[in-house]
Amino acid sequence: MNGTLLSLNVGRPKNVEWHGRTVYTGIWKSPVSGARLVRRLNVDGDGQGDLNGHGGEQRAVLVYQRDPYRYWQKHFARDQLEPGAFGENFTVEGLADDEVHIGDRYRIGEAEFEVTQPRVTCYRVGLRLGEPELPALLVAHHRPGFYLRVITEGHVRAGDEIARTRIGPHALSVADIDALLYLPDRNIEQLRAAVDIPALSPGWQQSFHELLAAAEAPATTPATTPPVGVEPGWTGFRRLRVSKIVPESATIASIYLEGDRLPTPRAGQYLTVRTSGDPAPVRNYSLSSGPDAGTYRISVKREPHGLVSTYLHTQVCEGAIVDVAAPRGEFVLADAKEPILLVSAGVGATPVLAMLHELAAEQSPRDIWWIHVARDRANHAFAAEAHQLVQSLPHATEYVHYTATSGRPGAATLADLHLPIDADTYICGPEAFMTDLRGALVDLGLDGARIRTELFGARTAINPGLTDARHTPPHQPPGPTGVGPQITFARSGLTTRWSGEHGTLLELADACDVPTRWSCRTGVCHTCVTPILAGDVSYTPAPLELPGTGQALLCCARPSTDVVLDL
Ligand SMILES: Cc1cc2nc3c(=O)[nH]c(=O)nc-3n(C[C@H](O)[C@H](O)[C@H](O)COP(=O)(O)OP(=O)(O)OC[C@H]3O[C@@H](n4cnc5c(N)ncnc54)[C@H](O)[C@@H]3O)c2cc1C
Ligand code: FES
Repeated sequence: MNGTLLSLNVGRPKNVEWHGRTVYTGIWKSPVSGARLVRRLNVDGDGQGDLNGHGGEQRAVLVYQRDPYRYWQKHFARDQLEPGAFGENFTVEGLADDEVHIGDRYRIGEAEFEVTQPRVTCYRVGLRLGEPELPALLVAHHRPGFYLRVITEGHVRAGDEIARTRIGPHALSVADIDALLYLPDRNIEQLRAAVDIPALSPGWQQSFHELLAAAEAPATTPATTPPVGVEPGWTGFRRLRVSKIVPESATIASIYLEGDRLPTPRAGQYLTVRTSGDPAPVRNYSLSSGPDAGTYRISVKREPHGLVSTYLHTQVCEGAIVDVAAPRGEFVLADAKEPILLVSAGVGATPVLAMLHELAAEQSPRDIWWIHVARDRANHAFAAEAHQLVQSLPHATEYVHYTATSGRPGAATLADLHLPIDADTYICGPEAFMTDLRGALVDLGLDGARIRTELFGARTAINPGLTDARHTPPHQPPGPTGVGPQITFARSGLTTRWSGEHGTLLELADACDVPTRWSCRTGVCHTCVTPILAGDVSYTPAPLELPGTGQALLCCARPSTDVVLDL
């Protein structure tokens, strides 16, 4: 015997108030008496609220042990916590996280289970217990608990014995695997072992494959293709001189920027431009020049009533000095041999034009498609330039579509092109255009995972469990204006001041309805990682693993100076 099932706990998801928002969560579980049938996806009577993070075949049953109950009661000076308090289905005696291995199998009552992964750290366990820092502590103190997959369905009841029937390969414990994902100083041999455990759930497998590839990259990747998310070429803003301005269409003008020893960007990356004003507005512009151009070129569409685009079109002339943050961005060409589709609409041509320049400069032998949608001839920017680049390539095809005469390109238009279905695709344009095109390409048989998009605006929010999605444009936070450092959310076009009201930059962004991305909210999962374009932050509490240079983990960051965030 390896343990005992002390309590069997179930609970259906429900709406819960949290920071003035509504969260749909199944973290509340209560003990039940008698036997319950455990099926492939759930214990009878149980459910999960957010199936992206919890539940499903790999995470059918959550297990937590009696020992950590005692540990956390002491840590938080809490009275006895009732079974199910950590959101677990099985409260067990024994089966410690450092003794149970991924891939171990256990018989409990009539059913058999396999250990698939540690608990996913997320803010909801902290919400349940009123201890917001708990998600980070579960990892830092090596007591996460774990999930089971149901191998054989059957009845279980409190009091059942738990017997191990098989030990997982490589004998990597739940605590080992959890630390391997979330804590620094990873052991590469353990990473290799982890990806060789078939029982480990696919999501964790993928994360370990990526970590392994990154760890092994320096030996195999040439210096010219640094990994995505490379360090920016300089910190903060640098003064660059406008060397030339060239009209490209009725509404788009290119601005050439020069400076000493400009670092070579990656094709597809963008610059951040700060113009004058108080507060000085900040906007991103994709580089439209090839990486080896020696200067930087951005191409700006003048938006009616647009603050920065109008300023750049009307106030900036040759010789002007502009504050610019270093090239950044992960919308870059992946190293591959497959055909490549560069698809754009309007000013969305800029990042893919930079890619076309790069492919032409290296005389890429790939099958390359340049697909561009413009309103009409007058609004067709870069027509001659793109045409020449396509002509210079051995296997490139050009397709230009004018909506004024042909309407929006639909699935039939794309089908007529007979595109290669094994292609890597890069799309940039208005959000609806990208959504439609992606859908049409997937319908044609292209792999959705190999379609990348660049959005000229705030990134889509990741707010697990929140049901009351807000579509309010970003605004100043409620309450009195702060007097602390100036915080600029570049993609959202908002500048505000820090005040003691908000514990972290993430809370401030939430209060401003700036679209945010997070999961644990305590510095573990790195979902909230955000490029920091200028300024410095400090951390309370310190994250378990610091983000890369030029990035901040907003959920535990406070500004030390004025800060510009790419959010
Ligand atoms: C990664 C990235 C890359 C980008 N690359 C490019 C690029 O290569 N080229 C490019 O041109 N843009 C690009 N953008 C978009 C760019 O950053 C700006 O968002 C864009 O130039 C508009 O900024 P603005 O200050 O002119 O408009 P804002 O003042 O921010 O206004 C935003 C929108 O609201 C409208 N608006 C503002 N005030 C009013 C009002 N009073 N009444 C009605 N409507 C109003 C404007 O017309 C505009 O469409 C990129 C964005 C990102 C995130
Ligand atoms: S939300 Fe998980 S690290 Fe910030």
